[in-house]
Amino acid sequence: MSDSVDLEFVPLGDTGLQTSELQFGTWRFGKETEAGNVEIGEERAHELLDAYDAAGGRYIDTADVYGGGKSEEWIGDWLADRDRERYTVASKIYWQIRDGDPNSRGTNRKNVRDRIDALLDRLGTDYVDVLYIHRWDDETPAREMMKTLNGLVEDGKVHYLGASTHRPNAWKVAKANEIARREGWEPFTVAQPRYNLVDREVEGDYLEMTRSYGMAVCPWSPLGQGFLTGKYTREDGLTGESRASESSRFEEAYLTAENFDVHDELDAVADEVDASPAQTALAWLMHRDGVTAPIVGARTVEQLEENLAAAEIDLTDEQVDRLTAAKGGPYADI
Ligand SMILES: NC(=O)c1ccc[n+]([C@@H]2O[C@H](COP(=O)([O-])OP(=O)(O)OC[C@H]3O[C@@H](n4cnc5c(N)ncnc54)[C@H](OP(=O)(O)O)[C@@H]3O)[C@@H](O)[C@H]2O)c1
Repeated sequence: MSDSVDLEFVPLGDTGLQTSELQFGTWRFGKETEAGNVEIGEERAHELLDAYDAAGGRYIDTADVYGGGKSEEWIGDWLADRDRERYTVASKIYWQIRDGDPNSRGTNRKNVRDRIDALLDRLGTDYVDVLYIHRWDDETPAREMMKTLNGLVEDGKVHYLGASTHRPNAWKVAKANEIARREGWEPFTVAQPRYNLVDREVEGDYLEMTRSYGMAVCPWSPLGQGFLTGKYTREDGLTGESRASESSRFEEAYLTAENFDVHDELDAVADEVDASPAQTALAWLMHRDGVTAPIVGARTVEQLEENLAAAEIDLTDEQVDRLTAAKGGPYADI
């Protein structure tokens, strides 16, 4: 692992917990691409966790559906040889896990209570530090959800609650937090929305909501699933070794003229600070008001080492502003 990176701790919003300034995401552990290839196998997964650990990283993000449970299992195996108390582990529940069984989806009481025990078992731990709702469940009343989640906190199975939701749900998170406040229950204190230089829908009311509640903001896909690393070009499109070439949605979502214009500005700033586009894109996010700690993803140890070094990069206000403005449109001056 690179000797120079030593990740620092930062407050996890208004909770009493500290998080590493860059969290590590394990979405791709055991994940099959559309072509049927496993993106990250068990050995590589453990090498990546070792590399993150060696850089001082202590915050691991997973979900019970990642790799059909393999992500949690492999993290659990890795943690078994270590002092679990040194690490902060976040997981998520929501997506349907049994065909034909609508109760195995969402945040209804039956599903939440069933899923928490299964995920703790895979992780080999008595509690998760943060439990996220992976998406908003419109079929379960907010009161039922918050009361059930509060019970998990009271039982000591969960320490903090998180919402991994999107902009249109800002008012729903606020409503759930108001119910919790009224009842004296645990509110959502951590948010995990998609946020990066080209995906900016979280700006505006969602970030105002998180700020108002003192919630931590831990952005996912901080590199636009690899788009912001400089490995795709206008001319060549999808090239090189990448899971994106095995995804039917990536090209349409990311390889757009507007996004390549943003990438031009990213390349310019990256040159100025003598960093890679990936490092510069992560540094921009870390400099954004209201952002706590991006969740870095990586398929290889080399990618991870490159990304973690973003913590060492300083951008001037002028550089941050130029990158912010590159997207244009209504978000440019937020
Ligand atoms: N809450 C949610 O709904 C949600 C959704 C998505 C993700 N997440 C969390 O956020 C984490 C990060 O998301 P993400 O994987 O989409 O993050 P990302 O950083 O936007 O993309 C990571 C991917 O980009 C490529 N990449 C990363 N660094 C690179 C580098 N330095 N050079 C070249 N390519 C590089 C790699 O894929 P290739 O090499 O294959 O191109 C890597 O797997 C996940 O692991 C998960 O924990 C949460």
